[in-house]
Amino acid sequence: MVSGARTRQTEPVKIGILTSGGDCPGLNAVIRGIVLKGDKVYEHTFVGIRDGYRGLVEDDVFTLPRKQVRGLSKQGGTILGTSRMGPYGEGAGGAERVKEVMEKHEMDGFIAIGGEGTLTVARMLHDEGVPVVGVPKTIDNDLSATDVTFGFETAVAIATESIDRLRTTAESHHRCMVVEVMGRHAGWIALNAGIASGAHAILIPEVPVTIEQVTDWVRATVNRGRAPVIVVAEGFRLAGEDVSAKHGVDHMGRPRFGGIADQLSPVIEERTGIETRSMTLGHLQRGGVPTSYDRVLATRFGTHAIDAVHRKEWGTMVALRGIDIVSVQLAEATSELKTVPRHRWDEAAILFG
Ligand code: F6P
Repeated sequence: MVSGARTRQTEPVKIGILTSGGDCPGLNAVIRGIVLKGDKVYEHTFVGIRDGYRGLVEDDVFTLPRKQVRGLSKQGGTILGTSRMGPYGEGAGGAERVKEVMEKHEMDGFIAIGGEGTLTVARMLHDEGVPVVGVPKTIDNDLSATDVTFGFETAVAIATESIDRLRTTAESHHRCMVVEVMGRHAGWIALNAGIASGAHAILIPEVPVTIEQVTDWVRATVNRGRAPVIVVAEGFRLAGEDVSAKHGVDHMGRPRFGGIADQLSPVIEERTGIETRSMTLGHLQRGGVPTSYDRVLATRFGTHAIDAVHRKEWGTMVALRGIDIVSVQLAEATSELKTVPRHRWDEAAILFG
């Protein structure tokens, strides 16, 4: 066979692609992987669905040719746009409306790239007869069916660099610095960025600790002549105290996080007498170019997702197991959150203070 020749074995189909939920570095690399392999190997054609499920409900769909995904793997964000709107919201029309829009555009199926909320909706649609394949995405790395999600490594790298920078200014002023990172109910970003940057304490949702323990670590650090750096995950809560972030709920009815560092720092300052500043890294962790690791993982997820579509493995999701990409049932993918096991925090906590 001539190198580069097409190897199509079945009839080409038309596939929709959507990105839904919070954006994440690597989304564009997935889209590129799907379209390149789909076009080159299977001669499938693609439509982009704008802003996640909103585009499927409101019929906001456009042709996505191969030339539109050129050079995309290094680009942050998502060319498709995203939203947290779902087809099961009030007046959205559910699976029937999704089928209607798919039929209008002659879509044979679609690929949903998203986190837990997006994949749960994909599973519900599949249960109602909609042909869908999932690709897991989240900087939080909290999906149990895959060893890693793309975007996580980039978020950890950004957080680590930011904490390194905050440390030099904290040292200069002999201050304590409380740095808040994302992660929702999982402490993976905090744990990894905290270990990488040599934080003096890492506070995660999985392990509530008391304010006395936190201030002991702060004092011990100061007593050694260092400026304490505390990394706190947005979902962390102090044991036995109601210091929590309260920012309402998002479009999918899930609580919004953010603000725990601002709440903790005055308490630490008051109890220790050490000047304490807070910094919430927020959406910086999701912005900009993906790391090479995330580009590779995202590209592999994309090319394997179109293979799954080609095999008509509807109702499945691609996942990383060890070094291999496998297909798992969407039901399995959304059954349980992957949180930080206690022993992983314990091994880091030995070095706190
Ligand atoms: O799930 C990814 C994530 O970045 C969480 O870490 C964070 O709590 C949430 O999304 C923020 O969502 P939004 O961008 O809608 O504020």
